Order: sequence, then structure tokens, then C-alpha cells
Amino acid sequence: MSHLTRLATEFERRYGAPPERIARAPGRVNLIGEHTDYNDGFVLPIAIDRHVLIAARPRADHRVRVTALDVADGQQDEFALDDIGRHPAYQWANYVRGVAFYLGQRLKLVGLDAVITATLPAGAGLSSSAALEMCTAFALHGFARGALDRVTLAQLCQRAEADFVGVKTGIMDQYASALGEQDKALLIDCRALQYRAVRLPSAVSIVVADTNKKRQLAASNYNTRRLECENAVQELSAILKQEFRALRDVSLRDLARAKKRLPENLYKRARHVITENRRVQQAARAARRNDPVTLGALLNESQTSLRDDYEASSPELDVMVELARRQPGCYGSRLTGAGWGGATVNLVQTAAANRFVAAVTRAYRAATGIEPWVAPVRAAPGAGWLESVKEM
Ligand code: GLA
Repeated sequence: MSHLTRLATEFERRYGAPPERIARAPGRVNLIGEHTDYNDGFVLPIAIDRHVLIAARPRADHRVRVTALDVADGQQDEFALDDIGRHPAYQWANYVRGVAFYLGQRLKLVGLDAVITATLPAGAGLSSSAALEMCTAFALHGFARGALDRVTLAQLCQRAEADFVGVKTGIMDQYASALGEQDKALLIDCRALQYRAVRLPSAVSIVVADTNKKRQLAASNYNTRRLECENAVQELSAILKQEFRALRDVSLRDLARAKKRLPENLYKRARHVITENRRVQQAARAARRNDPVTLGALLNESQTSLRDDYEASSPELDVMVELARRQPGCYGSRLTGAGWGGATVNLVQTAAANRFVAAVTRAYRAATGIEPWVAPVRAAPGAGWLESVKEM
């Protein structure tokens, strides 16, 4: 049974009538620009053709009943829109509640019956959380009175994740899920919250390779890095007697002038962010020139910087990257998302993509004993309604 048929059938079985509409919101793969978003910098993600889906029907009262089909055979939550607190046990429910809480401060929401499912693997670094947030926001927004633009929706979702779930991420994932474009990457300026669409090189596929190794300490490492970046900005401002707002405003020259007085870890984190911002701009230009060789080389440089300066890789990610680069038709490979586990993104000649998938799967399994998930993805449009239940 397809995801959609199951979704519609389960909705009807649980709530006694078919859903009125089905919302979808994509996950994302970041091509380049890692750990730059919360430093006011630049990123280059694509939204992907794997989604969170929410079947929904408005209710006459102000209650939300929601079932997560993929959790424990259909875990349920229910809450009132005018009294939203944290769920004591279900993490997924806090994404839904958090989004309803912040959206409700801006719009007059109506109650909903809803069922959630996903075609996006969770925990692979493909932003299933941001997709869940954005899908919830899109569905609630669609039935509500009043309208908000997509950037605002992304910001409210980010807020829900920070305050309700407790992970202080940057804006990249929610932004990509809201504003993604078919066959294009988004060059996002995370300070201005604006983007330009970048057409991807022709005859090139984006292949995701999930290490399937549970991420180690990703949340605490992430928070530590954020703090280190903030500290680096303060130290650099003090050493150079110049008020820097964020690492985005620091040049390599500034960094070199401060090197002797800056603690080594802060120096390395800052060097990653500053060089990564430059690589993002170079990558966007290479993509526009239809130059996958340069683009791939930049992905490889990003990986080295993430591994050595940001210390965000893992043994499995390093293996996956090395194996990928050995395959014919692979232009470049790097970890994508926060790191410390999760997936890699690979730029591969389309003609070689099937062989790449099979060879990397085999080689990674042989090297680690872990079964990976390797698959091509396409750049897809941001959140929307499905036109019909047959669409996906
Ligand atoms: C996670 C966060 C993003 C971003 C990346 C690293 O995916 O959610 O905001 O910081 O890590 O680039």
C-alpha cells in the first residue's frame, strides 16, 4: 500500500470520515555551507523529494487530535489550542504543539483532526524534524484565518524547535522546507533571510548516503559549537578592538591578526566558518557555470574543514566519504547537516549514479558491518497541498 493510501485509510478509520486535505513538507540536503547559518552566513541546501505528510480535517471546536502513524503503530496526542503545554513523553508531539503554540499567537487557528506519516527517514540528518514542523505549520495555517509569508512560518517553526523541543538550530532547515524549488538549490543569506535560486549542473545527481550510525552527542556538540562561535566573536572583537556582530563579518585577515591571542579551538571554529562562507559563494558560481568538477572539489574541501577545524565528522562519515570518492563519476562527497553521524551528500554523474549506489552500499557494509541507506534525491518544491491523493 502506498504511503498516501495508508494515510487516507487510517485517517478515515480513526476519525470516521476522509481527510479534507493533505499537506506535505520536504526534508532537505545541504550541498554546502555547514554550521554557517547560526553565524549569520550563507548556505546552499535543496529541499528533497521526501516528505512529511499530514492528512487533516478541520473541527468545529478548538481541539487538535493528531496521530503519528509511524510511531508505535499510531501514537496519539490531543490538546486544546488555547492551552498548549509541553507533552510529558512524546517528542514528536512537542514539534506539533510548539508550532501550534507560536502560530496561534499570530493567527486565529481552528481545531484539526490529523494523521502524520513520512517518506523521509528520521534521524538521518535530512531534517525530518524541520519537515514535521513545517508540515504542521502549513496545515494549521491553511485552515486558519489570516495569512503569514513562508519566511515567517519558517521562523515560527525554528522558534518552536528552540523553545518547545529545546534544540537551538539555525534557520536553514525550516527555510529550505518552506521555500524549496524544483531542480534548484537555494543560496540563502541567513542574516537577510533572503535567497536566490541556483540551477544545479546538468547530468549530475545528488546522492544521499546515511551511515545509519546513531548520532553521538549531536545535540550537546552542536550547542558547544554554537557557544564557541559566540565566544570567538567576543574574543575577536576584544583583541582587534572592533565590534563584530557575527563570524560572517570577520575576514581571514582579521583572524590571522588575532591568531596568537585566540585560543586554538576558537581559532579553528572561526576558520571553518569563514572559509565555508567563501566556499558557498564559490559553489553557487560553479553550479551556475555548470561546472560540477569545481563544485565537487568545494564539497571535498568543506569536508576537510568540518573534520579538522570544526571536528564535526565521525569515523563512519569519514569511511563513507572515502568510499564514495573512489567511485567512478563521483565529483565530491561530504557530511551534510550537523554531523557527528547522519548522512553524506555526494555529487555524482547521473550516468554513474546507479552503480555508485550499489558500490557504496556494498563497500560501506563490508567496511563497517552496518547496512547504510544510499539513494538519489531530487530538488523539490517547498511545503504545499497535494492536489489529489494519487499524487505521490
Ligand atoms: C542542523 C541545524 C541547522 C544547521 C546545520 C549545520 O541541521 O538544524 O540549522 O546549523 O545543523 O549546518
